[in-house]
Amino acid sequence: MSDGTFVIAGGSSGIGLELVRHLARQAARIEVWSRTPGELEQDDVVRHVACDFTTDDPMPLPPDPVRGAVYCPGSITLRSFRSLTPAEFRQDLEVNLLGAVRFLQAIHPRLAGLEGRPASVVLFSTVAVAQGMPMHASIAAAKGAVEGLARSLAAEWAPKVRVNLIAPALTDTPLAARLLSSPEKRDAMAARYPLKRIGTAAEAAALARFLLSDESGWITGQVLRPDGGLSTVRV
Ligand SMILES: NC(=O)c1ccc[n+]([C@@H]2O[C@H](COP(=O)([O-])OP(=O)(O)OC[C@H]3O[C@@H](n4cnc5c(N)ncnc54)[C@H](OP(=O)(O)O)[C@@H]3O)[C@@H](O)[C@H]2O)c1
Repeated sequence: MSDGTFVIAGGSSGIGLELVRHLARQAARIEVWSRTPGELEQDDVVRHVACDFTTDDPMPLPPDPVRGAVYCPGSITLRSFRSLTPAEFRQDLEVNLLGAVRFLQAIHPRLAGLEGRPASVVLFSTVAVAQGMPMHASIAAAKGAVEGLARSLAAEWAPKVRVNLIAPALTDTPLAARLLSSPEKRDAMAARYPLKRIGTAAEAAALARFLLSDESGWITGQVLRPDGGLSTVRV
């Protein structure tokens, strides 16, 4: 990663915050768009811009040019299909899919890579799209839509913009806190994975940094899977 300007939606918590902390060592400028700054440290490089992706309010005006953009907001809704209401499906679609659409429509006109190289967009999915799991109908449906969006845009925006996805399994962030609230729960979750532990925000953020960098310059329309082997390996 060298210089350039990046916009990280949801860079005030979890995986996004970890990404911003590392990116700030190399980027010229980073804008973090979310509802609150949370634990974000702002300085000459990092600036918070308040916005809510689940409303139709006008999006902030992005900086120009934007070399890379990441959309991190998401949800974990774990309920049986029977107990899920259409309103809950709609909520998951709002933050995961329509929020990403609002963000990308605001950012796209400003996306420009450095010195003729493509700009880079990263979206987040979940392991529950590749691997069917009980209780995941709503979030898997919403993230499945995000995967379709990302591959379509990878085609529509090539060769000027690369678009890729990261599909984590359970990762230790505030979003997952409810599932990891006791040592017993943590152990039970870890035991489900071929690699016998859950993921860290730093591991998912490292993949986002790679996808933003020119080191991944020939990768577009792909899904990277920090999931401890859950989607592909049986032990
Ligand atoms: N953690 C996991 O186990 C896991 C597993 C699979 C997939 N993922 C996916 O990975 C991505 C990152 O997850 P994470 O665990 O890092 O989440 P997180 O800790 O909850 O962080 C989410 C970020 O998005 C922002 N955000 C949420 N709703 C927003 C809204 N309506 N408008 C503007 N900003 C909003 C939050 O800031 P504000 O609240 O201040 O707005 C925060 O900065 C998500 O897409 C998630 O679905 C996570």
